[in-house]
Amino acid sequence: MKITKPLNLALLAIAGLTFACGGGEKTTETTTAEVAAPAAPAQEVSLEDKYKDDPIYIKGIEKVKGSDCTSCHMVERKIVGPSYADVAAKYESTEENVAMLAKKVIEGGVGVWGEVPMPPHPALSEEDAKDMVRYVLLLKK
Ligand code: HEC
Repeated sequence: MKITKPLNLALLAIAGLTFACGGGEKTTETTTAEVAAPAAPAQEVSLEDKYKDDPIYIKGIEKVKGSDCTSCHMVERKIVGPSYADVAAKYESTEENVAMLAKKVIEGGVGVWGEVPMPPHPALSEEDAKDMVRYVLLLKK
């Protein structure tokens, strides 16, 4: 029999209760714990897994990891900068958008996502910045 974690905890609690007050309310406790136990979340495929075999992904992530992007951006969670998934949801992956965003990565900028600026990356070539942006815009849900 597989005992789930919440149930395990409930059993521990009951053990404690039994010890503390002589075993009263055992049935009630069990029922409450079972109702309160959250349903297991549906297993979703991460965006990383969804796109990891795409050549745009492979080329882009290598360059992104070689730069400082990951200290401010995560794929599916906003940290200092917007998540890549949010950026991908905002812009179609057209040549104009790739060029515009690559320019922003190189020159830095502020005001689209909030008051926190993205610092410039003057050492990046236009080609590298574009490969990074193509990777970012690929990460659509
Ligand atoms: C010091 C933190 C920081 C670093 C490092 C950083 N970013 Fe950003 N990035 C931000 C912030 C903050 C914004 C939101 C700027 C705004 O609101 O206009 C942003 C926005 C963006 C956007 C969306 C721009 C827009 O106009 O919608 C892209 C694309 C992006 N970053 C890619 C990158 C890439 C690629 C790198 C690595 C070369 C990188 N960022 C490194 C903080 C950072």
